[in-house]
Amino acid sequence: MSILRIEGGRPLRGSVHVQGAKNSVLPILAGTFLARGVCVVHNCPRLTDVEYTLSILKHLGCRVGREEDTVTVDASDPVAADVPDNLMRQMRSSVVFLGPILGRMGRAELSYPGGCELGPRPIDLHLSALRAMGADIREEGGRLVCGGRLTGGDVTLSLPSVGATENAMLAAVAAEGITTITNAAREPELVDLQAFLNTLGADVRGAGSSVITIRGGRPLHGGEHTVIADRIVACTYLSAVAAAGGEGEITGVDWRHLSTVTAVLAEAGCGVTSSPDTIAITAPPVLKGVRPIRTAPYPGFPTDAQAVVMAALCKAQGATVFSENMFDSRYRHVDELSRMGADIRVEGRVAVVYGVPRLSGARVCSTDLRGGAALAVAGVGAEGTTLLGELQHVDRGYADLAADLRALGADIRREEREWSGT
Ligand code: EPZ
Repeated sequence: MSILRIEGGRPLRGSVHVQGAKNSVLPILAGTFLARGVCVVHNCPRLTDVEYTLSILKHLGCRVGREEDTVTVDASDPVAADVPDNLMRQMRSSVVFLGPILGRMGRAELSYPGGCELGPRPIDLHLSALRAMGADIREEGGRLVCGGRLTGGDVTLSLPSVGATENAMLAAVAAEGITTITNAAREPELVDLQAFLNTLGADVRGAGSSVITIRGGRPLHGGEHTVIADRIVACTYLSAVAAAGGEGEITGVDWRHLSTVTAVLAEAGCGVTSSPDTIAITAPPVLKGVRPIRTAPYPGFPTDAQAVVMAALCKAQGATVFSENMFDSRYRHVDELSRMGADIRVEGRVAVVYGVPRLSGARVCSTDLRGGAALAVAGVGAEGTTLLGELQHVDRGYADLAADLRALGADIRREEREWSGT
């Protein structure tokens, strides 16, 4: 089994270029199914979630190719309108194929995505959005059986769900007429999806705000697009420098996409300077605890950065209160951090991190994607050796976490070895 061996306790110094955004490329690749031609997607990171998505596209009849970080998808001749169970189980976010398949084929069938490591993953908002466009959706024995000709409609989301907004956008470009999505999610990934769809000939406006308007019904042609950088991966690497001390340069990312996180790191005592596509950070040997951190929809503090920032603050002077408001079970990394000497108390949605003088390397297991990344962040700031297992979680979102942290000066290697858990 692959594990990460991290020799921590020394300041970092280096520079790293940030990969393409997982949470942008997944809906964009799903959107290629709407094009009656070839789509070329640049800056597509090598992630297992991307591989699963490409497998779904191949199952649907698309011709798929990859050269380095460029993926081509030709959806000219679709042959299916379903997502196989095994692929749905591997990746809950496959539910975002519902809109494109329904929009292109007039029918769709996929299994109910169910929960995951973060707790329940309901899709009621996805379904109500598609029903507002005329979709007939029946839930039969754990599967969603969908049909109906989509027409433009008014979609109001009771909460700004990223996935539901994406599904509604992807369906609406195929729906005859005008669709308005109110209380849409405002994440940068939605703006990227809008740019991609408009490259294909769609007419989508307003992404990044709470109201998105789509004039749909025109067939879409192929196109070329470069995916934005991954702001959460950037937060991970900034947190690693903060955890270990030292200095680093994170390049290729739009600093505006993570300003709530850089503000917290600055409050903790780091020096953070941003230019159009570079964030430079200097970190002191000891951070300070910060005012309460509450996760919220964009532009609030991102839930995906909660674990990695928590890892950086474990050795801070003073305490920090976290409130995780987006998911029910997103503190699973806390027990593993405690094995390294962290002092964290969890009460429901609230976690209180009491700073300790040092963390010690230990054998720890990834619990989920960002929890696993957080343990690597803690490892570079811990004294001694950390062995991190269950990397399948981390490989979903990081193309090469070890190489990127090594570029920042960390002593970290991926190696094969027997691993019977912690
Ligand atoms: C996206 O998940 C991201 N995943 C998540 O990143 C991210 O944490 C999340 O947005 C919030 O920013 C991808 O983009 C692939 P939501 P998504 O729908 O779309 C509830 C990572 O680490 N909800 O905005 O599933 C839901 O239960 C991953 O990269 C409903 O109640 O998130 C949650 O509490 C983890 N009904 C809240 O909304 C619905 O129909 C936010 O979920 C849909 C969601």
